[in-house]
Amino acid sequence: MADFVRVATAGELPDPGSTVVEVDGELIALFHVEGAYYALDDVCTHDGGPLGSGEIVGHKVACSRHGAKFDIRTGAALSMPAVRATRAHDVKVEDGGVWVRLRSGHGVDGPVAQSPVAKPATGFPIAPPAAALSSTGGAVTAPSATAAGALCEDSVRELLKQVKDPELFVNIVDLGLIYGVTLTPSTETPGKQQVSVDMTMTSPACPAGPQLIGDTKRTVAAHPEVAGVEVRIVMEPPWTPDRMTDDARDQLGIF
Ligand code: FES
Repeated sequence: MADFVRVATAGELPDPGSTVVEVDGELIALFHVEGAYYALDDVCTHDGGPLGSGEIVGHKVACSRHGAKFDIRTGAALSMPAVRATRAHDVKVEDGGVWVRLRSGHGVDGPVAQSPVAKPATGFPIAPPAAALSSTGGAVTAPSATAAGALCEDSVRELLKQVKDPELFVNIVDLGLIYGVTLTPSTETPGKQQVSVDMTMTSPACPAGPQLIGDTKRTVAAHPEVAGVEVRIVMEPPWTPDRMTDDARDQLGIF
């Protein structure tokens, strides 16, 4: 086990306050909240944003990049777009100093991972039952193209509500990932339409990207009036949490 490393003088940090320190070569966000000190990896599990410079509200800190919140005491992810905990470390105050000892392993996941069947009080997204997962692991319900009605932009958006982010379990329309839908008559298949979907990701390195693209293509292509589907990834303007609908916010427990 690693040794405790002195990182600050007790009382040096305002309360509430935070700073970033180096412990055994790693950047650690050190927090001082309500008289106690806490240490987390200075890494947001969504896309690596810094936590030590984030806004502190009570025992929560918001990633300064896209706003995911983490519990300062445990590292648990409290709101999307982060769904995995960041690592929390041991802290003690001794000899007038604040000391941090790094823990090994990963962060302790929050209720996202702990509760597969019931929505917890914090409103975390819940893993669907295994039967609801697509063969690629995505949370896609069985496509129901005919239920969407005649092909138009609105019906394509309805179809796209069947495609869910595999980590957040919220559909990509309500997440605000769909920037545009364009229909053009197919030159190769008269009477059918070519569909182009402009989609963004919650981060450039979103690991769910290939799966979301594949599920989007399969779901829209199931409509009998569709000749082909193109998905274009658009990163401008970048996605932000305020693009989500109220339904998505409700499902994710964002308030
Ligand atoms: S990097 Fe932290 S919320 Fe995106």
